[in-house]
Amino acid sequence: MTATDYEMLGRNDANDIAQILMLTNTEKEASISIVKNEADSIFTWDYEKGARPRLNKLYEKSKHSMWDGEKDLDWSIDVDQDKVVADIAMVSEVQNGPITRLAESADSPFKNWGDKEWAQLDKESLNWQLSQFMHGEQGALIATAKIVETVPWIDAKYYASTQVMDEARHVEVFAKYLDTKLEGNYPVNVHLKHLLDDIINHSEWDMTYLGMQIMVEGLALAAFGYLHMMTSEPLLKQLLRYVMSDEARHVAFGVLTLEEYYQHLTLAEIQERQEFAFEAAVRMRDRFLQQEVWDRMGITNIRPIIDAQLNAAPEEKEFQRLLFSKIVPNCRKLGLLDAGEGWLRTKFEEINVIEFEHLESTDTEFDDFALGSDDVTSV
Ligand SMILES: [Fe+2]
Ligand SMILES: [Fe+2]
Repeated sequence: MTATDYEMLGRNDANDIAQILMLTNTEKEASISIVKNEADSIFTWDYEKGARPRLNKLYEKSKHSMWDGEKDLDWSIDVDQDKVVADIAMVSEVQNGPITRLAESADSPFKNWGDKEWAQLDKESLNWQLSQFMHGEQGALIATAKIVETVPWIDAKYYASTQVMDEARHVEVFAKYLDTKLEGNYPVNVHLKHLLDDIINHSEWDMTYLGMQIMVEGLALAAFGYLHMMTSEPLLKQLLRYVMSDEARHVAFGVLTLEEYYQHLTLAEIQERQEFAFEAAVRMRDRFLQQEVWDRMGITNIRPIIDAQLNAAPEEKEFQRLLFSKIVPNCRKLGLLDAGEGWLRTKFEEINVIEFEHLESTDTEFDDFALGSDDVTSV
């Protein structure tokens, strides 16, 4: 690792704890957040539909795949929050190895904690996680509205417009689940917000695709798949299944568009995309440090906790690693791994996720996620 690799993040290295903790959400109490969009809005006068057949096929499919979150999900289901927490806590047990060890140390930040606090932590973690999904969905809503304006191809504008509607439904159902079935929610995580801001702000239209369709949605697809597999709560399971059927199409949209566009870029431009992808990867990893949960649990010195999480053994980071199972093969398909002497390949090796490169890329597997298909691919 060289210092310059992390300049874009304002850090000396990926695990620069001081810099990670320096970022705080200054808008916690605000009801809106303003982000400047530096990209041009583009009209196209070339209305030839189907000039890009694969995008056209996605658009046609999308028109017939719209579900209704109010009618198609069974909101009469009485959700037992403790049961949802218990299912998900099985995930936490693996990743909380470093936290458990820290709890046993003499100067543990958890030394006054009893069963009540540990149970509360699991509950807060679930609420935090679903809240971040909801905020990420709003990021997707805004990003795809931006894509409608900025992409120069009519087939892509058509498709992106259907995705705007999909994302509205996703925000709606996560918000309703949090509001009516769980207790309490969280403001947006500071690292996720920085990433969303970079995606919305960027002057190049394809960077919005890369950040949102490939990185954020690729991670979401893997995370939803994992949660869908773990939870036995019927409403959440159904909700995730519906959302995933759309997300797989969204990631495919990103892969199909960028595959064509990247063929015309220079090496220097591709390298800029590699860096942007890695910056997004680090920010998404940092969001899973769930700083806001530790704050809410009343811990004043969270540094040892962050340190323990970042420096956990690879087998204790299994969940975080699996979140890259869609991102890495899609980056490979786009030629981002090996361009520029394999800069991104090296970076993905450093964060221990390169082994996913030969999994199926999402442009070919989205039919497996369609509603009515039993062949749901999880992570
Ligand atoms: Fe979504
Ligand atoms: Fe999406």
